[in-house]
Amino acid sequence: MKLIIKNGTVVTADRTYKSDLICCDGIIKKIGENLEGKADRVIDAEGKFIMPGGIDPHTHMELPFMGTVASETFYTGTAAGAAGGNTMIIDFVIPNPGENLLEAYKKWRGWAEKAATDYSFHVAITWWDESVHADMGTLVKEHGVNSFKHFMAYKGAIMAPDDTLVPSFKRCLELGAIPTVHAENGELVYFLQKEMKNKGIYGPEGHPQSRPPMVEGEAANRAIRLAQAIEVPIYVVHVSCQEALEPIIRARSEGQRVYGECLAGHLEIDDSVYYNKDWAVAAAHVMSPPFRPKKHQEILWKALQSGNLQTTATDHCCFCADQKAMGKDDFSKIPNGTAGIEDRMAILWDSGVNTGRLTMNEFVAVTSANAAKIFNLYPRKGAIIEGADADIVIWDPEAERTISAKTHHQNVDFNIFEGRTVRGIPKYTISRGNVIFDDGELKAVEGAGRYINRPPFNRDYEAVKKSLVFNAPKKAER
Ligand code: URP
Ligand code: ZN
Ligand code: ZN
Repeated sequence: MKLIIKNGTVVTADRTYKSDLICCDGIIKKIGENLEGKADRVIDAEGKFIMPGGIDPHTHMELPFMGTVASETFYTGTAAGAAGGNTMIIDFVIPNPGENLLEAYKKWRGWAEKAATDYSFHVAITWWDESVHADMGTLVKEHGVNSFKHFMAYKGAIMAPDDTLVPSFKRCLELGAIPTVHAENGELVYFLQKEMKNKGIYGPEGHPQSRPPMVEGEAANRAIRLAQAIEVPIYVVHVSCQEALEPIIRARSEGQRVYGECLAGHLEIDDSVYYNKDWAVAAAHVMSPPFRPKKHQEILWKALQSGNLQTTATDHCCFCADQKAMGKDDFSKIPNGTAGIEDRMAILWDSGVNTGRLTMNEFVAVTSANAAKIFNLYPRKGAIIEGADADIVIWDPEAERTISAKTHHQNVDFNIFEGRTVRGIPKYTISRGNVIFDDGELKAVEGAGRYINRPPFNRDYEAVKKSLVFNAPKKAER
């Protein structure tokens, strides 16, 4: 497949310029002016921006969780992501406590074969013994995993206590992998959930009340201090509030390598949703950490603007109304999770670029390039350069969409951004040179996505040189 994109403006994390592009055999072959030649397709991108496809570094397709399974499959979820301008996800392998890591990894790899765009996996460390120590090594050395996730919440299920965090962080350091954390103090959540129920609070409002910001702040600070002691970098997922942000900013200012992610939902939605009179609407917003009082939104935006948070994600984890109803009589049984993969980029553009909070280049950084850099995919992903994968979004800054569950492609019956009109949406999404979202028409192909290896980070510079050969396409090295 040969594709020529003409007359557009290339926008990357570091510059903006007019150029044509030729994509061939899945990669960007040539960037330059007045490119001509025979092609299977020519797209006129006049007035549009040619940007690296979005990378959502935090999704949960078909996740078995809280007694049910997330409704979005790897196919439907990545297809919906493509409709929203994404060309890659990093999802999570989450072994049950006691489950062999490699077996869990193989299971998730099997499920993900349906994906329509490229994908990779963080692997969660939900328990600890010598086999976990050994299997982390195998995952890094043989399976292209360079990040391990630790849920500090979900006591009695997948929670990693300190005696798991410490050896796992140390193992990450040895392997050149990065630990990531869901920062909420699971003991405190468990205690506060019981307190709510003792007070007779069983409705969705009990969810935010049992997970207040200090619960997240304590865990973020603890994880960051553990990482400091072990001298390993750390990535904090879905930072939702000032209390979690403060230790990140402090540690970064002290020179610690700490990265933070925020979700489109936490930037836009506040905790009033949990007090909606309609139980189903309130329950549809139950996710962890919960949506926060309004003041936190501007604080998160400022952290993105200042670079204290580097990435945006969705934590796309869909449950339909009948699944949410499992918690009808008890908020702590409502499956935790909300959708957003189709809307993240448009929300970030409309609330970020259109308001002047972000430049277009910063938009590319926080929706694609920074995730590619932090998780060692760059510049194969997250960049528009010759030799990179032809994962591209052609963005129409003038077109509008009113977000609705009635029209979205996500396999879930609710949209947390319902009714919101965004200006600035994808016109074409190109995955490895194939147009899979074509001016409003979704042409995603089940199984077309490929697993992407992510080599470890290494302080041994000879090994780094070798990993660059593995990671970067030939032209990109120049
Ligand atoms: O509520 C959420 N976020 N569900 C998915 C699992 C997680 O905590 O990331
Ligand atoms: Zn989480
Ligand atoms: Zn998550």
